[in-house]
Amino acid sequence: MDRTRTRTGVFKRPILVFFVSVTLFFILGLILGYLIGPWEIWHPVKARDVRPEIVSEMKAENIKEFLRDFTKKPHVSGTEQNLQLAKKIQSQWLSFGLDKAELVHYDVLLSYPNASNPNYISIVENGKEMYNTSLFEPPPEGYENVSDILPPYNAFSAQGEPEGDLVYVNYARTEDFFHLERKMSINCTGKIVIARYGKIFRGNKVKNAMLAGAKGLILFSDPADYCAPGVKPYPDGWNLPGGAAQRGNVLNLNGAGDPLTPGYPAKEYTYRYNADEGVGIPSIPVHPIGYHDAENLLKFMGGLPPPESWKGNLSISYNVGPGFLSEYSSRKIRMHINTNKNINRIYNVIGKIRGALEPDRYIILGGHRDSWVFGGIDPTTGAAVLQEVARSFGKKLKEGWRPRRTIIFASWDAEEFGLLGSTEWAEENAKILQERGVAYINCDSSIEGNYTLRVDCTPLMYKLVYNLTKQLSSPDEGFEDKSLYDSWLYKDPAKDKPDLPKINKLGSGSDFEAYFQRLGIAAGRARYTKNSKTDKYSNYPLYHTVYETFELVENFYDPTFKKQLSVAQLRGSLIYELADSTIIPYNVKDYGEELKSYADSIEKLAKKNIAQMEAFGVSFGSLFSAIENFTQAAYGIHARIDTVDLNNPLAVRILNDQLMLAERAFIDPLGLPGRPFYRHVIFAPSSHNKYAGESFPGIFDALFDIENKEDQRMAWDEVKRQVSIATFTVQAAADTLKEVS
Ligand SMILES: *[C@@H]1O[C@H](CO)[C@@H](O)[C@H](O)[C@H]1NC(C)=O
Ligand SMILES: *[C@@H]1O[C@H](CO)[C@@H](O)[C@H](O)[C@H]1NC(C)=O
Ligand SMILES: *[C@@H]1O[C@H](CO)[C@@H](O)[C@H](O)[C@H]1NC(C)=O
Ligand SMILES: *[C@@H]1O[C@H](CO)[C@@H](O)[C@H](O)[C@H]1NC(C)=O
Ligand SMILES: *[C@@H]1O[C@H](CO)[C@@H](O)[C@H](O)[C@H]1NC(C)=O
Ligand SMILES: *[C@@H]1O[C@H](CO)[C@@H](O)[C@H](O)[C@H]1NC(C)=O
Ligand SMILES: *[C@@H]1O[C@H](CO)[C@@H](O)[C@H](O)[C@H]1NC(C)=O
Ligand SMILES: *[C@@H]1O[C@H](CO)[C@@H](O)[C@H](O)[C@H]1NC(C)=O
Ligand SMILES: [Zn+2]
Repeated sequence: MDRTRTRTGVFKRPILVFFVSVTLFFILGLILGYLIGPWEIWHPVKARDVRPEIVSEMKAENIKEFLRDFTKKPHVSGTEQNLQLAKKIQSQWLSFGLDKAELVHYDVLLSYPNASNPNYISIVENGKEMYNTSLFEPPPEGYENVSDILPPYNAFSAQGEPEGDLVYVNYARTEDFFHLERKMSINCTGKIVIARYGKIFRGNKVKNAMLAGAKGLILFSDPADYCAPGVKPYPDGWNLPGGAAQRGNVLNLNGAGDPLTPGYPAKEYTYRYNADEGVGIPSIPVHPIGYHDAENLLKFMGGLPPPESWKGNLSISYNVGPGFLSEYSSRKIRMHINTNKNINRIYNVIGKIRGALEPDRYIILGGHRDSWVFGGIDPTTGAAVLQEVARSFGKKLKEGWRPRRTIIFASWDAEEFGLLGSTEWAEENAKILQERGVAYINCDSSIEGNYTLRVDCTPLMYKLVYNLTKQLSSPDEGFEDKSLYDSWLYKDPAKDKPDLPKINKLGSGSDFEAYFQRLGIAAGRARYTKNSKTDKYSNYPLYHTVYETFELVENFYDPTFKKQLSVAQLRGSLIYELADSTIIPYNVKDYGEELKSYADSIEKLAKKNIAQMEAFGVSFGSLFSAIENFTQAAYGIHARIDTVDLNNPLAVRILNDQLMLAERAFIDPLGLPGRPFYRHVIFAPSSHNKYAGESFPGIFDALFDIENKEDQRMAWDEVKRQVSIATFTVQAAADTLKEVS
């Protein structure tokens, strides 16, 4: 009976059966689709949290082997060795399973010493060069036969042979020159000035020396700044030996990238300025020396005695000069600088993991590959971490996982020559990045000390960093079974909020600069650092010397590689959460709180001249009003985040776009005064020290030394203008966060 029934009616006609079923399925699909929503059928909110697996995939031993392998030879930007390393990294990324890894080249201005015409400084008497500074650093044991080690030099120095009297200018900071000019009445015009390294970026020292009229600058590392008490010089310890000197560029680029192509990528077709018209290139010779040579140059200094705080730790008077003691007054200092500047090809490696759901949203993990010599710490403790993070993500990818958003890995070139590789790539992709850039995490050196974690980031990431560090284990002795957050909080609590670990403002000095300061992409960096309360030396003593080797890290900084592993886990976790969270994990309320505290301190600074403020009618009221509005808008967006229907892809995307563009809203297309590539109104590298971050930099610079400005009305008018720019920008940012009505 059943059988006969199936043979009756429509079932006798297979074609009709087919069409009826297709139609029924289609209608059923429409109904289901309407009821469930396309989201759950095609795109799960988040398939699976693989962060714990990615974190536990990372191994200290791998970081160690990457470090060992990448530090065997020098990898100076523009050299064959650094191209070979780029190709190795590219092929490793492909083997790890990244979707893509490409070399991207630019032709930029680099600068090397002339091998047949070395740089040195002499003491001259009666035309005879009676003392010459050393031409190279004695190579460390085991590296005696390595060729292609560049001697210490300052890239982009002017060439020349200036001769004259020395003036000792302490750290060559703005305040040091104020002291010389205002308190000691010493005029540096036509003098060769000698400054100790430390406290500020060396490019700022050069700028200050030029402004003071100096015709040459000698930079030296004083034991007071580059030796820790009780530690032996390398190789018996990690202190600076007397024959070592710090390399480094002396540009004042203010974010321009390649000096010859500011604003545009240095491609084959790009117009180039002449080398003498390049951005930020010093007009005076500059050269670095070690403390043995410095002691000899400074030993017989005459003139005025130094302020107490200007004395270093050499057995000399630190007299300021100008010139030598009268019995040696026939002696002069002569610099011989032949460093050249030429256009060379550089290579970034760009790797990609395509996002499954939002391939047009980018999370970048980028760090440089080029080094001054072996790059034992800088950058290779970062490059090795980048490699281990890429490997761990690749492993998950091979197992079928894919992040919601696109992850870009970048191995930058020519960072040491002024952040050139990262800036050129930012320039080439500026339009895309300003539309699609969610976050940039920097991956330079992962250690500069072995004491505790150090984080510099946008306020948007504070909560994310705190959350993630609570879920990672501490590598510190005595903190077994504790979290990274616990040891960090114990060792470096914030001054104003001692129940939270300290987080610093972003300045510059590494490759996040173009992404944060120019493009307004939320950014952060994390590394292990020294104890800022007790360790008074600058950087780490062997910074940018030939002694930055694998052995330095293995013997003295991180023998177990656990600190570097922690940094890898944190950087990797940040990338993971930013790329895979349904809602971008930014906290805008923290930005509001920080704006309020930055405004409080800048108002306090202005009020040091309360009489002038009142006389010229300067008020911060409008700025506080805008910050109040921003904070309200921040509460608003978080209320919407808490209640959004995660299954509504459009609602999620609307919120995520507002979160992504929150940082972008602080960009002023006109840039800061005189610094068109520093466009973030809330943060900039300090005008007096590129390494440090300054908040409300436009207002800060207008107020700087204002009591000594000749035209007070004009000076305070500029303060008013800057307060109004800040007010507008914060209010406009608040408007971008509001619910669209
Ligand atoms: C290096 O110095 C030598 C000797 O003074 C000179 O002939 C040569 O042109 C210089 N090379 C460069 C690249 O400047
Ligand atoms: C310093 O170098 C110059 C040039 O090579 C040489 O003439 C002079 O003798 C050297 N002086 C000393 C003390 O070595
Ligand atoms: C360096 O070269 C010399 C001579 O060729 C050789 O005797 C020595 O073992 C080499 N040293 C190293 C560390 O390779
Ligand atoms: C310093 O000296 C130069 C010339 O020697 C002079 O032009 C300049 O005005 C002097 N600067 C000060 C502040 O006295
Ligand atoms: C400075 O030198 C003294 C004596 O040589 C030494 O005890 C002290 O540790 C040194 N300080 C620094 C910061 O190097
Ligand atoms: C941090 O963790 C808390 C508590 O688990 C959570 O409510 C918050 O959303 C997290 N924030 C971020 C930015 O991850
Ligand atoms: C590493 O930590 C130990 C123990 O705190 C300390 O004595 C040493 O100076 C540190 N090493 C460096 C390079 O900072
Ligand atoms: C802040 O918002 C209030 C209320 O909408 C508005 O009156 C005020 O002008 C805003 N402040 C600024 C600086 O725009
Ligand atoms: Zn670096």
